[in-house]
Amino acid sequence: MPSKTPRNRKSASAFLPKVKTLPALQKAAGDCQGCDLYRRATQTVFGEGSPRAALLFVGEQPGDMEDRAGHPFVGPAGNLLHKALNEAKIPRQEVYVTNAVKHFKWEPLGKKRKHKRPSPSEVAACQPWLVAEISAVSPVIVVCLGVIAAESVLGRAVRLIDEGGKFHQSEFGPLAFVTIHPSLVLRQPEKKDREAQYARLLHDFKEIRKKLLTLRIEGARKPATTD
Ligand code: URA
Ligand code: SF4
Repeated sequence: MPSKTPRNRKSASAFLPKVKTLPALQKAAGDCQGCDLYRRATQTVFGEGSPRAALLFVGEQPGDMEDRAGHPFVGPAGNLLHKALNEAKIPRQEVYVTNAVKHFKWEPLGKKRKHKRPSPSEVAACQPWLVAEISAVSPVIVVCLGVIAAESVLGRAVRLIDEGGKFHQSEFGPLAFVTIHPSLVLRQPEKKDREAQYARLLHDFKEIRKKLLTLRIEGARKPATTD
């Protein structure tokens, strides 16, 4: 397949504001037409949370409920995410949540709207919003929930089996951690598998919390530098 030239490659970049504060980004993202996904979605679902969060969580894309509500992680996957954050003792003020893709991609299934995986070109088109959010929040750790998030943050192909549960250096600054998407827990038909996947998510969140505490202690111990 011939690679697309930058001229016809879809991208949100032309829609980004000059001054990239979170409120300005959120407002501008509301009008994004950087790829075709805005056409069938209700609205842009931008990231939310503490603007100074130490942990920035990246999901895949808004789901059906997020699309209607206009807020990220307010449906079943969001409930599970917040349950695991609480159990891992990660306070809300440490957290900002967003998605690799800001519009809901779906296909009709009877009367329902069935989630569809975003294509690599849609993930790439939406990446400028994510880069700008990461830069505005400036978190200590970017937590990638699932492969789509991990590939956008790390800027390369990712295999969860090899790279999940580990820290990685991200392309644009902060340390990244790759874990599963909470919907993987919900998708397991068997209770024992749901429990096992949830335990994995919780274990990873506890590792993240530990790392954050360690980094803060190390940061506090660092000798003061002079400019
Ligand atoms: N799943 C996601 O990846 N993001 C959301 O906001 C909700 C569900
Ligand atoms: Fe823009 Fe992203 Fe929505 Fe595509 S998915 S229209 S790039 S905000």
